[in-house]
Amino acid sequence: MSKEESKKLFIQTLGCQMNDTDSQHIIAELEKYKDYKTTDNMEDADLIIINTCSVREKPVQKLFSEIGQFNAKKKDGAKIGVCGCTASHLGKDIIKRAPYVDFVVGARNISKIKDIIDVKGAVEISIENDDSTYEFARSETSMYKTSVNISIGCDKECTYCIVPATRGDEISIPPEMIVQQIQKDVDKGAVEVMLLGQNVNSYGRRFSDKRAKTTFTKLLQEISKIEGLRRIRFTSPHPLHMDDEFIEEFSSNPKISKCIHMPLQSGSTSILKAMKRGYTKEWFLNRAEKIRRLVPNVRITTDIIVGFPGETQEDFEDTMDVIEKVKFDQIFNFKYSPRPNTAALALKDQEIDDEIAGARLIKVIDLHKEHLVEHMNSHIGKTVEILVENLKSDGEVCGFTDNWCQVFVKGSDELLGKFVKVKINDASRTALKGEVISE
Ligand code: 5AD
Ligand code: SF4
Repeated sequence: MSKEESKKLFIQTLGCQMNDTDSQHIIAELEKYKDYKTTDNMEDADLIIINTCSVREKPVQKLFSEIGQFNAKKKDGAKIGVCGCTASHLGKDIIKRAPYVDFVVGARNISKIKDIIDVKGAVEISIENDDSTYEFARSETSMYKTSVNISIGCDKECTYCIVPATRGDEISIPPEMIVQQIQKDVDKGAVEVMLLGQNVNSYGRRFSDKRAKTTFTKLLQEISKIEGLRRIRFTSPHPLHMDDEFIEEFSSNPKISKCIHMPLQSGSTSILKAMKRGYTKEWFLNRAEKIRRLVPNVRITTDIIVGFPGETQEDFEDTMDVIEKVKFDQIFNFKYSPRPNTAALALKDQEIDDEIAGARLIKVIDLHKEHLVEHMNSHIGKTVEILVENLKSDGEVCGFTDNWCQVFVKGSDELLGKFVKVKINDASRTALKGEVISE
């Protein structure tokens, strides 16, 4: 390799949007300070990073077979690093089990990445806070959209969830830093922001500098003042913190995207209690009903876990009942997966037979499909506005509505970055198709 040539970084990202943003930060830090450029070809890379997820067990099992393959195929002298939540929870055991891994960096420690890549055998997985945990170089993945972390960690104790153990206590990032960052991105052309946190609407309860508390609703109001910013999205909020003030802001603020994630997890009040979710079936239905009433075009998405220990047929019927009543626009559904360092492990003797859990999962999927067909078909003949984001093959472009529906239209790169009106003439379960009627 000649001296002028940059080194190459291959990064594979698993898991949630927080991990996507973490990977962008890793890329930006290594580009800025270590002269790396990304490559899509693992065999060509000087540094291979896997940014992992540990929320369920399957991806963790896959990790070791995958890094084994990377090791067999990588070019001579290339380094391998494991980052993210599995790095946090397995730490040095990763290097014990796979000695060719050069370093391990936890989900809360990626701000240290530029120093760690040069230290063979480094394991950095502390979940203590210091302000550097949210100061990063920036990389641009889209000209029109930006993602900004508003908090890190999670203070909840959902009994199935490994995240508090891997990402640590919740700390909110100061509002002025968030606003400043978004303003910078807007100055460069962004019109949409995604605010990220494990639990965005509990924002403002703890800052590292002990300042006074604030709320997510106030943060939304501040961010909305940024001129040139047209859309604000956020994920994930918690149903427990969807108070009236928040719902009213959500419904009345025109900049806030009318798509909301309401992770139900279970529709049974007794399972919700065992999960320590802090709300009841009735609270959830009441919040969803209020949101649908105040925001007629809202899309509501959710996460559902079936087969949590002790889930009876009656409990499961409660989940189906909530799905039937709320008619979610998208469901991310999961079979319960026992995780280390979680309280639900103590319920081992009440674990549900895998076949029963599998059958419940299929019932959820089937019921949801019916709702999905109804929802998507209801767009046909209507006009929506989209921000055109990507060029597809065959003279097509695609973009998203304010309430986060994907729409394909005929068009060229001239449409990129524009808000256009589209008449919808076709729908599948996952996307809409139409014609541009005005720019
Ligand atoms: N088993 C199954 N699903 C889980 N999730 C989190 N932990 C587990 C687990 N142990 C799901 C929840 C959460 C989503 C990100 O992952 O539904 O909202
Ligand atoms: Fe996990 Fe619950 Fe925190 Fe979400 S709110 S990250 S499910 S502990």
